Amino acid sequence: MDDKILTNDEQKHTTTSRFICTANHGFAPYAQEELRRRFGKLKSSVLVSGEVFLVTLFEEAEQAVANIVSNPPIFLRHIQPVQLELRADADEALEQTAQYLLRQDKLYEASISLQARKAERSVAAESAGELREKLLQRLTGLNADFVVRDPEWVISVFAAEDMLYIGVSSPAENLSDWSGGAIRFQREEGQISRAKFKLLEAEQSFGIDFRSFGSALDVGAAPGGWTSFLLERGLKVTAVDPALMHESLRNHPNLRILKKNASEVRFRENEFDLLVCDMSWSPKQMVKLVKELLPSLGTGGTAIVTVKLMHKKPMALIGEVIASFEEAQMQVQRAKQLFHNRDEITLYMIKY
Ligand SMILES: C[S@@+](CC[C@H](N)C(=O)[O-])C[C@H]1O[C@@H](n2cnc3c(N)ncnc32)[C@H](O)[C@@H]1O
Repeated sequence: MDDKILTNDEQKHTTTSRFICTANHGFAPYAQEELRRRFGKLKSSVLVSGEVFLVTLFEEAEQAVANIVSNPPIFLRHIQPVQLELRADADEALEQTAQYLLRQDKLYEASISLQARKAERSVAAESAGELREKLLQRLTGLNADFVVRDPEWVISVFAAEDMLYIGVSSPAENLSDWSGGAIRFQREEGQISRAKFKLLEAEQSFGIDFRSFGSALDVGAAPGGWTSFLLERGLKVTAVDPALMHESLRNHPNLRILKKNASEVRFRENEFDLLVCDMSWSPKQMVKLVKELLPSLGTGGTAIVTVKLMHKKPMALIGEVIASFEEAQMQVQRAKQLFHNRDEITLYMIKY
């Protein structure tokens, strides 16, 4: 097979475009389904089982990206354009990649994030780190500032078994400026639970300014990762959970702990401007319990809830949950499977 090089201009004049798409492990079929519903016909092949696939859309790249970015999907976590495809025969392919990139004026003296990933078996390199290093050495002529966060441009390189896929895009076009959308946070000393990462990620992904809220209700709060996050952002928090909150939180001046089931508590109308719920509970029960508590959330208030997928058909389940919240004057801003969500997604809603 010949090497195939699609320049940006050629992509504009063909009506196909190719992307490498990434979802949380096991959820790639749903990300494929989302694309199929949006674009109709497409071709898709697996690069990493359950996680990464190469898709051909019968649409121009610019239009396809605009469609995806303007209405971000739930399960598709990350996309990267494929503008150059080469047989991955070690150094020769890297040489050609570098030449291709060195021809792009916009990359000179720019801030660039060089993101390399690889399938388990790839002839291009031993590790993604090695791949990145080898390419970096060949790009010194760009005189660019290679950064990790907030770049102007992302150069994405994916080494599949015997092919190398290369694309240049802005971070927004990739749905995330993290390589593969795998957003990492540092574990802190004394961190109460890993669940805290979900709210940290929601803050970044949904662009929520938690400091703008005054008073939050945290339903299913124990052991208290989310509560501790909200306290750190300066909120007053009411935590509801029959299980024990972490001892480090027990005497916090801005925290009221109610060691109860959510069905046993009621609050004043409009008492909160934020409601969060991370109950490990069936979605139907969760929706019922949260809806009963919604009068305590003021108009314009924000709700963030995780929805367990319970091995059911996720699309249908999510549709039902959203419809049920919409009956209760909740407008869904985003539904997204965060990188830190396991068998669940996160809903970000505003009460109108
Ligand atoms: C995944 S944990 C929450 C983790 C928490 N967000 C954190 O950051 O530490 C789920 C919690 O929901 C609580 N839960 C389950 N059903 C509940 C109910 N009906 N009312 C209140 N809490 C409930 C469980 O006791 C459990 O502590």
